[in-house]
Amino acid sequence: MWPENVGIRAIEVLFPSQYVDQTELEQFDGASAGKYTIGLGQTKMGFCSDREDVNSLCLTVVTRLLERHQIKPQEIGRLEVGTETIVDKSKSVKSVLMQLFADSGNTDIEGIDTTNACYGGTAALFNSINWIESSSWDGRYALAVCADIAVYAKGAARPTGGAGAIAMLVGTNAPLVFERGLRATHMEHAYDFYKPDLSSEYPVVDGKLSIQCYLSALDTCYQLYRKKFAKKYPNATEVGLDNFDALLFHTPFCKLVQKSVARAVFNDFLLCSAEKRALKYPGLERFNDATLASTYFDRDVEKTFMTQFAHVFEAKTRKSLLLATEVGNMYTPSVYSGLVSLLVNNAPEQLVGKRIGVFSYGSGLAASMYSILVTKDDKVFQQFVAKLDYVLPLLNAREKVAPEVFSQLMEVREKNNHAAPYTPSGSVSALFPGTYYLKEVDDKHRRTYERTLTITNGVH
Ligand code: HMG
Repeated sequence: MWPENVGIRAIEVLFPSQYVDQTELEQFDGASAGKYTIGLGQTKMGFCSDREDVNSLCLTVVTRLLERHQIKPQEIGRLEVGTETIVDKSKSVKSVLMQLFADSGNTDIEGIDTTNACYGGTAALFNSINWIESSSWDGRYALAVCADIAVYAKGAARPTGGAGAIAMLVGTNAPLVFERGLRATHMEHAYDFYKPDLSSEYPVVDGKLSIQCYLSALDTCYQLYRKKFAKKYPNATEVGLDNFDALLFHTPFCKLVQKSVARAVFNDFLLCSAEKRALKYPGLERFNDATLASTYFDRDVEKTFMTQFAHVFEAKTRKSLLLATEVGNMYTPSVYSGLVSLLVNNAPEQLVGKRIGVFSYGSGLAASMYSILVTKDDKVFQQFVAKLDYVLPLLNAREKVAPEVFSQLMEVREKNNHAAPYTPSGSVSALFPGTYYLKEVDDKHRRTYERTLTITNGVH
């Protein structure tokens, strides 16, 4: 017998305390006004000085989750980290996190790091679920952690950076349950975005190819999800986007997500029978013979479906883009920041009993679509969401930094990446209370961390 209702029992999000405004960045970069804000759909971009690295982000987010939800370290039996921000080619971030469990004496915690661009977080989550559903499970919680610092060299990709971390406590009888039998995956070899230069934090990116890879992975995953849905629910009258009350996407920039919703509608359109098509999609007959492969950059298809089905985006996806537009691409946490945005942007009663679709994409490439069912118990769900009441105040408490200063801080990161010995120069006082930060790197590249003071009960 599998354990019942395996899913997310608690979720914690972390984003940088400083940001750069995308309108100001457009001016600073000499980009045309509106390119980053309207063209890419971005408002602000969070970033980290040299005081934070992937280890410190994970230390902070795990500590905060354990504190806020009063989870004892002994209650964790598996800890998985998904990240593409590599500070050590051998030692896992997970092993660094074991410092948080040392006092409790709990060293019996399975799991290490998983990497494939932005998909590592989903792999960490799937590993956590799989453990709980396996014969290896010992009844304790799993913790899936994803964190990244997304930085690009100066140029077209720079405004699509960001940073952040998410920790998800996975267990049984959860308020957010993973729907069994509805995982659709597509993996393939592609050089759309990769990090071959191990001395640099920056990726090599083929922007146009990356968009095509993302959209084609979406097509494949969505069509497979639809098939699996039809098999699981043979009596369903409709198979398609109507089955989702909300739909979340990995979000490299918000405009691509708007296009992705339109793309999913286009899939529904192509898979519709001829009679139904005429009724459901009037005026779109000219696309009857269109194919997926020939339309990745077809402006007519893109604009028509975006405009005519803007209400689908408004109803199912817009609210999940809050953190993505305010912070930017967090890489592995991105799609889960979409989940947090959805939770804090809706009254809990609007989500009770609903189905949330999730599309996770990581370049290179790995992608999955799956669904989450929200509990029907409104009290349990309200308590779950109430724990996220810090998110909006914290988002508004961030400090805006001028693009010149942001650019200088990026140069400091760039010059000192992997430097040893090294003492970071970034401001500690600029960090939120309760944040772990890099104190120093010694001559053997060993990193030590300290934590800024917490406010109340150790919880911000
Ligand atoms: P670009 O090529 O310089 O931008 O960089 P563009 O010329 O295509 O312009 C962008 C949009 O702004 C266009 O919109 C323009 O028309 C519009 P579209 O026509 O495509 O709808 N525009 C304006 N709009 C209003 N006012 C203006 C204006 N000017 C232009 N004045 C690119 C864009 C995304 C390629 C670049 O930022 C990049 O390379 N980013 C990184 C790669 C990326 O994010 N790819 C996304 C899919 S891959 C993925 O999601 C994986 C990833 O997260 C990594 C991982 O998995 O780890 C990236």
